[in-house]
Amino acid sequence: MGRRDVHSPLIEPAIAEDEAAVVALWHACGLTRPWNDPHADFALALGGAASTIFVARGEGMIEGSVMVGFDGHRGWVYYLAVSTDQRRTGLGRALMAAAEDWLRARGAPKLQLMVREDNAAALDFYQALGLERQKVAVLGRFLKEGA
Ligand SMILES: CC(C)(COP(=O)(O)OP(=O)(O)OC[C@H]1O[C@@H](n2cnc3c(N)ncnc32)[C@H](O)[C@@H]1OP(=O)(O)O)[C@@H](O)C(=O)NCCC(=O)NCCS
Repeated sequence: MGRRDVHSPLIEPAIAEDEAAVVALWHACGLTRPWNDPHADFALALGGAASTIFVARGEGMIEGSVMVGFDGHRGWVYYLAVSTDQRRTGLGRALMAAAEDWLRARGAPKLQLMVREDNAAALDFYQALGLERQKVAVLGRFLKEGA
C-alpha cells in the first residue's frame, strides 16, 4: 500500500519492472561504483525476504528510491537517491521515514547506514534527520570469486 500527500509523490515498494529506472536514478545520483553491479543489487534486495526497495513515483517517472534491509540485529539503509530536480522538497526525508517504518514493523531496534566520508551533502542531510555519527570503522571483504 502506498501513501501520498500534497507535497510528495507516491512512495511504495518497487516491482521488478522498476529495475531500469531505479538503476538509472542511482547512476544519475552518483551512487554506483565499478565494483558493484547495481542490477544484481536491485534483484537481490527485491527478492530477499529481509529487504526491499521503496520508490517514489512521480508523473511517469521514479523520483527517488531507498533500499532497506534487516539482518536480524540492525536495520540497514542503502541507495537513498532523490532526482536532482526534486531535491529539498522533503522527498529524502519521506523515503527515510518509509524505510524506518518498514524496520519498525519488523522489530529492528536500530537503523544504520554508511556514507562516504566526502559526501558532505548527505552527511548534512542525515544530521538534519537526527542521525548521529557512530564511532566505528567499517571493515569489509568481497565474497565473490575473483573479486
Ligand atoms: C541526500 C539526498 C537523498 C537528500 O534528499 P532531499 O530530498 O533533497 O532531502 P530533503 O528535502 O528531505 O531534506 C531534508 C533536510 O535535510 C537537509 N539537507 C538536505 N539536503 C542537504 C544538502 N545538500 N545540504 C545541507 N542540508 C541538506 C536540510 O535540512 C533539509 O531540510 P530543508 O530542505 O528544509 O532545509 C539527495 O541530496 C540525494 O539524492 N543526493 C545524492 C545521493 C546521495 O548522496 N545519497 C546518500 C547516499 S549515503
